[in-house]
Amino acid sequence: MSSPDIFREVRVRAPGKINLLLAVGPLRTDGYHSLASVFQAVSLYEEIHAHSARELSVEFTGPIDTSGLHGNDTLVHRAARLVAQELDEDARQQLVGGTADVPGIRIVVDKHVPIAGGMGGGSADAAATLLACNAVWDAQLSTERLLDLAAQLGADVPFALQGSNAIGLDRGDRLTPVVSSGTFHWVLVPQHSGLSTPAVYAELDRLRQRAEKISSADLEVPEELLRALRGSNADALAATLRNDLEAAAFSLDPSLAARAQQLSEFEGVCHVLVSGSGPTLAALCESAERAELLHAALRVQGIESFAVHGPVPGARFVHEVPGSGGSAQ
Ligand code: C5P
Repeated sequence: MSSPDIFREVRVRAPGKINLLLAVGPLRTDGYHSLASVFQAVSLYEEIHAHSARELSVEFTGPIDTSGLHGNDTLVHRAARLVAQELDEDARQQLVGGTADVPGIRIVVDKHVPIAGGMGGGSADAAATLLACNAVWDAQLSTERLLDLAAQLGADVPFALQGSNAIGLDRGDRLTPVVSSGTFHWVLVPQHSGLSTPAVYAELDRLRQRAEKISSADLEVPEELLRALRGSNADALAATLRNDLEAAAFSLDPSLAARAQQLSEFEGVCHVLVSGSGPTLAALCESAERAELLHAALRVQGIESFAVHGPVPGARFVHEVPGSGGSAQ
């Protein structure tokens, strides 16, 4: 049993994602669209440092501009409150600080995944917060319960907990893991201004209505995609990539299509995809070397990019190794 004033401190990291498939069906009555999605978690991580404190406080920091993230109702606050609601009276009494509703915790989010970039950065923050609060408050929630809470926070949050590759059906949150043996190499190119996810879905609906086509997208996950994930051939994977939101992202940001075209002309790029609802562009490269060369070429042109690989695991604790600056589990 814990002592009343025990101090706990954890570091958790959670990955951003790319949708290898994002087949979007009709708008449902709950405001979401039915999806068939295949997620791949990639090695660009959000990192959370959390410890016991007198009150709930959240700070966003890191190499990207986090000035737009403020207030007391971010996904991180909401994730912390959801875990707090799960604490029973006994567990709550063991904890110092906070209010009647939420025990104290200090959460610092070191952000690396582009904001409003279509890579699930906010979802990764929420997933990492669920794990961090569960540990700091010793809430002892099972993985299944954490996945339930994740689904309440957003359609992509369960995947950020689970990671690797997964099929996502319904809102994208009914997950089935996908067996894969290959590692794929990507260069991610964030854009200067973000796109709002609801706005991109709404634009797709508008485009479909204008074309007088009631959404009849095929919501199957192609067998060729699953087969490509079992191998390591980037060309085979490239042939199966599909994102229905791409047309909507191009419509809202007309220069994006030209930038995608330019990227696809680099040697060793198999395909360029808009990541999720965009506007981050994801260039699938034939090898790690090609990805590094593209990353270096973009740097020379003054274009920010990240060379990453996938799949990687979902939200995990990070253990500090003295003197090493920390290494992941
Ligand atoms: O669940 P999340 O908060 O990430 O979703 C943000 C928005 O994206 C939703 O409010 C909805 O407008 C849109 N969305 C959708 N269908 C999905 C997932 C998201 O229309 N399956």
